Amino acid sequence: MPRISYVNGRFVRHCHAAVHIEDRGYQFADAVYEVIAIVRGKLVDDALHFERLERSLREIRMEMPFSRTIFRMKVAELLRLNRLSTGSLYLQVSRGVAPRNHKIPGPMRASVVMTVRPLREVPAAVVEEGVPVITVPDIRWKRPDIKSVALLPNVLAKEDAVRRDVYEAWQVTVDGIVTEGTSTNAWIVKDGKLITHPAASAILNGVTRLALLEIASDLGIGLDERPFSVDEAYAADEAFLSSTSAFLVPIVRIDDRQIGSGVPGPVAKALLAQYRHHLWSDHA
Ligand code: PDD
Repeated sequence: MPRISYVNGRFVRHCHAAVHIEDRGYQFADAVYEVIAIVRGKLVDDALHFERLERSLREIRMEMPFSRTIFRMKVAELLRLNRLSTGSLYLQVSRGVAPRNHKIPGPMRASVVMTVRPLREVPAAVVEEGVPVITVPDIRWKRPDIKSVALLPNVLAKEDAVRRDVYEAWQVTVDGIVTEGTSTNAWIVKDGKLITHPAASAILNGVTRLALLEIASDLGIGLDERPFSVDEAYAADEAFLSSTSAFLVPIVRIDDRQIGSGVPGPVAKALLAQYRHHLWSDHA
């Protein structure tokens, strides 16, 4: 059965799915995206993802190409054609195709592409053991809150992590503040309290992050939503990362320094257990 993807109103074989070379997403990274988990045919936390998509589009002076309902219908069709009910959706909206010119042309037809694939969960053994991360300078532009496809700094930072044989790279400002990972949000725990960077312009406000904040509040876990430094991270009792694809992964080493007792801690474990419940049971 061929894999099918969505390109500008058409469901096409994935191997033929393409946009024009003068698409502004290709030439200027003039595009935004979302990655959404799908459980039993339903988009997980879709209201939060659509809100963020609308916000990203608004920030780059674009509108939703069509309504949430139409998006949901197209995703349902994509899942049907790929005989998939649980997986993940990649959705990208670019400003569209126009002769190359920095100036934003007048109103134009956005390019919309969507792909689905089976869920690739982080192996249980990795989650149980926890992972190492490194820190790297945060060299991104000043608007990582916009989920733009301009991800070259993230790609290069991830490559640093791969070369050092660690799971992720935590990006650090010139002031020594940890902002986030290359495709994940960053968290530490100190004296039973969760600490994570506030959702200002310096980070992407992860949907998993928002779900975990709600779960933490339900579990009565204290929260300090504030910037934290690399030194604080080294001295934390626990650390972990979160994203739609990774869910929550405990971190046991940062730059070769052991975190806490070197094994996943109780706060990370409790949050992950509850997040799994949110994923699998709330979408039953
Ligand atoms: N990444 N920070 C960055 C820079 C990200 O790219 C992501 C998501 C997150 C976590 O956001 P969420 O919980 O909504 O997935 C934080 C996606 C999964 C990606 O680029 O593949």
